[in-house]
Amino acid sequence: MNNENMSNLLIAPSLLAADFANLQRDVEMVNNSQADWFHIDVMDGLFVPNISFGMPVIEAINRHAKKPLDVHLMIEKPERYLAEFKRIGAKNITVHYEACTHLHRTIQQIKDLGCLAGVVLNPATPVSVLEEILPDCEIILLMSVNPGYGGQNFIESTYEKVRKLRKMIDEKGLSTLIEIDGGVNQETGQKLVNAGADVLIAGSYVFSNTKPLEAISGLKNIVKA
Ligand code: DX5
Ligand code: ZN
Repeated sequence: MNNENMSNLLIAPSLLAADFANLQRDVEMVNNSQADWFHIDVMDGLFVPNISFGMPVIEAINRHAKKPLDVHLMIEKPERYLAEFKRIGAKNITVHYEACTHLHRTIQQIKDLGCLAGVVLNPATPVSVLEEILPDCEIILLMSVNPGYGGQNFIESTYEKVRKLRKMIDEKGLSTLIEIDGGVNQETGQKLVNAGADVLIAGSYVFSNTKPLEAISGLKNIVKA
């Protein structure tokens, strides 16, 4: 593969779909794979109708993880816990637009902690709400399912949303990463990359696969058509 075709695509397996009774084994699998980040889903049972895991589990993951932790906060008022997530190993922290009253302040707090800061949009939230905050974000995460559960079907309108966001980022001359979460597999992943995605999160596609390493390398080697 020549340099022109080399992809900068980043892959972030979501540990929500890992075997929690064999978490160290699954973390080592990701360490030994072509993946770039660990995607960590924190749910509070309020912002989303499900509860995932909290600080002690993330701290344990961080003891074995050899790649950055990309922490996706599906919680109300995430500003309450930012410093704690940084302390236990978060390198990237993404917060939902729908969960933050003072989004600009929350994003600045994440940056002040030395983490990459990102805003997440639910499927029904248009990318136009990012107009003012975009220059402050290293990452924009577009949900391609309604947050709360792994293994859901990909929402097709996400492709158009990615194209719109790509255009906004390029027109402003920014280097903000477009990350996509939910229902990502080889097929949806290819279409997302074609639309302009930079980071693919994949939970069940990786961890329900009998060959997770190959699932990850398949995604990593997607080339924009
Ligand atoms: C859903 C989470 C996702 C989830 C994706 O609320 O944010 O990260 O793990 O799972 P899959 O890839 O199975 O759709
Ligand atoms: Zn997520």
